[in-house]
Amino acid sequence: MSNLKGKVALVTGGTGGIGAAICLKLAESGAKIATNYRNEEKAKAWQAEAKKAGHDIAVYQADVSDFDACQTLVDQVEKDLGPIDILVNNAGITKDGMFKKMSKDKWDAVMSINLDGLFNITKPLVEGMTDRGWGRIINISSINGQKGQLGQTNYAASKAGMHGFTMALAQEVARKGVTVNTVSPGYISTEMVMAVSEEIRNSIIANIPVNRLGTSEEIAALVDFLASEEAGFATGADFSMNGGQHMM
Ligand code: CAA
Repeated sequence: MSNLKGKVALVTGGTGGIGAAICLKLAESGAKIATNYRNEEKAKAWQAEAKKAGHDIAVYQADVSDFDACQTLVDQVEKDLGPIDILVNNAGITKDGMFKKMSKDKWDAVMSINLDGLFNITKPLVEGMTDRGWGRIINISSINGQKGQLGQTNYAASKAGMHGFTMALAQEVARKGVTVNTVSPGYISTEMVMAVSEEIRNSIIANIPVNRLGTSEEIAALVDFLASEEAGFATGADFSMNGGQHMM
């Protein structure tokens, strides 16, 4: 566990899957946590569950694909919790389909959340980090942005794009105490992965050397380290955690 006492973290899409585990892990490390949601019912239920576990997570309605909504979100979080020190760009969706069947709508939906969202939410807060001389930006990408995946031209392009953003921004802010890194999870037991048909999922697991899906908590532990003081020499990097699948 890291010591994040006094830090404020914004985790996008933190009310389910990997994002929820990241919120809880950073909260355990002492950070004040904010996250955003699109589905209010699900978000409020999750917030109540986190409260029962002893964590106060601030939740806000905001769609990361909406530039103005992201500015409003950042203003509100900073007003309520204080300046944002740690940003985890986790919000993301899939709309899988073979390229010949890939509609413009599917392409646009994935790009606007996974890639435009990265710009929209980072833009209003990065200058605050550089002015204060400390910040951690962690972008949750995917093994499929590294190796490609049949049926995911949209998702793989967006996730590979995330790491390009990481490497470019990391160079711009390195001298100002701000690090920017990518985490590329493999197949994790989230709703997103469970939505893949069982037959295809089992064939994917057969190609993972550790022979299982990963857990959201395993990814959260890596994010917790990257958010810490001790991770200050890591920047512009892409951290893989995929059960050895990248070797296949
Ligand atoms: N290589 C080449 N072609 C293949 C193939 C392969 N391995 N497997 C199938 N095909 C071909 C078939 O021969 C068929 O070709 P024809 O049309 O010429 O006959 C075609 O692909 C099948 O196309 P369909 O459109 O009929 O396939 P579908 O609609 O039934 O399924 C799919 C397409 C939804 C993309 C399905 O393949 C799928 O779910 N794949 C898994 C995608 C995946 O891994 N998604 C990850 C989601 S989780 C996530 O993304 C989290 C993360 O970060 C890891």
